This record gives sequence, C-alpha cells and structure tokens, in this order.
Amino acid sequence: AGKNEFKVKFIREGKTYDAYGKAGDTLLDVIINNDLDFDGFGACEGTLACSTCHVIVPQAEFDRLPNKPCDEELDMLDLAYDLTKTSRLGCQIEISADLDGIEVTIPATRHDARG
Ligand code: FES
Repeated sequence: AGKNEFKVKFIREGKTYDAYGKAGDTLLDVIINNDLDFDGFGACEGTLACSTCHVIVPQAEFDRLPNKPCDEELDMLDLAYDLTKTSRLGCQIEISADLDGIEVTIPATRHDARG
C-alpha cells in the first residue's frame, strides 16, 4: 500500500478480505475499487435507498466515526437485517488515517429496501 492508502479488513461469512483505499473513500468505494465480490452489496450505489451496504463496526471505531448517521441513514438501518448497536451503512463511512486497519463485518443477510 502507498502512503495514501489505508487498510480495511472486511469479514464476511467467516472469511476475511484485506482491502485498501484513500482518505475520503467510502467503504462502498473500497469494496468496488478492490473488486470484492460481495453479491448485492451497495445496490443503490450510495444513494441511501437500499440498506444492502449494512456493515457492523467495532465499538471503538464506531464511537469515533466523524459523521453521525443522518435521518435517511437511520431510516435505512431500520430496514436492515441483523441490526446491531454499532451498525452503519457502508456508503456513509469514509476511511481516513484515523480508521486505518478498521475491521468491518458484513452481515450474511441483506435486505434491499427498494423491494
Ligand atoms: Fe444503498 Fe448504501 S448503497 S444505502
């Protein structure tokens, strides 16, 4: 990884995937740019319409995410399956030096709120 690249570790169905991105990339961007084949993830392309980008963040990183969820994100999270107290939408989390090495869990089930 170059000096502007930060690491994200995705955990999905018991497997881990190392990925890299730049400051300002969302977790959805990182998944796309690293060609991770997470079927159905990010179906609305980050427009806060689907909840398929639901991720679970460790408490420590969750507490220091710079942006709190907006009302639209909270509405979408209400529709996500396997919701936890540290759930967010992956299209709304931007990586940064502060989050370098973050481990993000992707729930096994997905719900596309667009029906
Ligand atoms: Fe659809 Fe995030 S990609 S809400």
